[in-house]
Amino acid sequence: MKVNGTHYRSLWWDTTAEALQIIDQRWLPHDFRVQQLDTLADFDAAIVEMRVRGAPLIGATAAYGMALAARLDPTDDGLNAAWAQLNATRPTAINLRWALDRCRAALLPLPVDARASAALALAHEIADEDVEINRRIGEYGLQLIRDVAAKKSDGEPVRILTHCNAGWIATVDWGTATSPMYHAHDAGIPIHVWVGETRPRNQGALTAWELGGHGISHTYVTDNAGGHLMQHGEVDLVIIGTDRTTRQGDVCNKIGTYLKALAAKDNGVPFYVALPSPTIDWTVTDGVSEIPIEERNPREVTHVQGALDDGGIGLAQVTPQGTPGGNPAFDVTPNRLVTGLITERGICDASSNGLATLFPEMV
Ligand code: MRU
Repeated sequence: MKVNGTHYRSLWWDTTAEALQIIDQRWLPHDFRVQQLDTLADFDAAIVEMRVRGAPLIGATAAYGMALAARLDPTDDGLNAAWAQLNATRPTAINLRWALDRCRAALLPLPVDARASAALALAHEIADEDVEINRRIGEYGLQLIRDVAAKKSDGEPVRILTHCNAGWIATVDWGTATSPMYHAHDAGIPIHVWVGETRPRNQGALTAWELGGHGISHTYVTDNAGGHLMQHGEVDLVIIGTDRTTRQGDVCNKIGTYLKALAAKDNGVPFYVALPSPTIDWTVTDGVSEIPIEERNPREVTHVQGALDDGGIGLAQVTPQGTPGGNPAFDVTPNRLVTGLITERGICDASSNGLATLFPEMV
């Protein structure tokens, strides 16, 4: 998608430097900084510190990390060590392990001297596939938005609530939850997006930056406003992303998603999840008991980052000195609260049968 009129992907391969370039998301929306990842430690830090973030982008970045590893040490030991190092960076988004497993399984059977070029080609393939998956999710999601728009009077916007950033910078391009929004906007359907701030890291500000950059009408609201807005008939549709969805359709996503789903159920608001297939964990059934939830540094809760009056970016402490913070980064929304899953193969029920119908080869 575009930043100040220039098309960007959230990561790209620099053929001159022969290295991966990323957008360092820690500084968005205030500053657009690009970083080159040269070492495995750079890849590790980029994922752990959320310079790159969002399940699909974490997966694509890890694939390029395996490509670097295959250049530095293409032996079985070298690849296995890189797999283990990158796999330990973040525990919840399954796309990380999906990409690492896919790379390792493709590379180990090859002769050692063929691995580096094959690994880079595979990383490019994974990145390109992600773009295509999200484009298709956008087309299927567009139909949902069209259906809501058809029941409205001319010019009245479809009001969509989203949480966190499941946008183009959380993927390689398009985003998952935002892809239907971009498609609807481009199709001339008026939409308005309620963007939840998403404490503690305020990924909603990234979503606001993206939507603003594409001229999509939106309002940034506190996380706690979602229920109130739904109660007052201000939300037609919820669309969110996911970090891991189980084979029965339980959805793990950014902390606070579950509360939005409860409010949506109570108010009869359709609650959809944009789900690229690499985010399905076919080995897991019950999300609440089986998905590991990342516990992040409490400083993310006790301190808030923002733009300062002097133009810099700084941290402010919001709690009294010494107050302990707790920071579970994700929660699980049980399938009974999910209206449907928007995948690259179509929209299905959040259930074992629904997913099996679209992905019969996986069951
Ligand atoms: O901790 P983050 O910012 O990596 O969490 C991101 C989310 O929870 C997104 O909603 C999810 O990864 C879907 S991104 C298309």
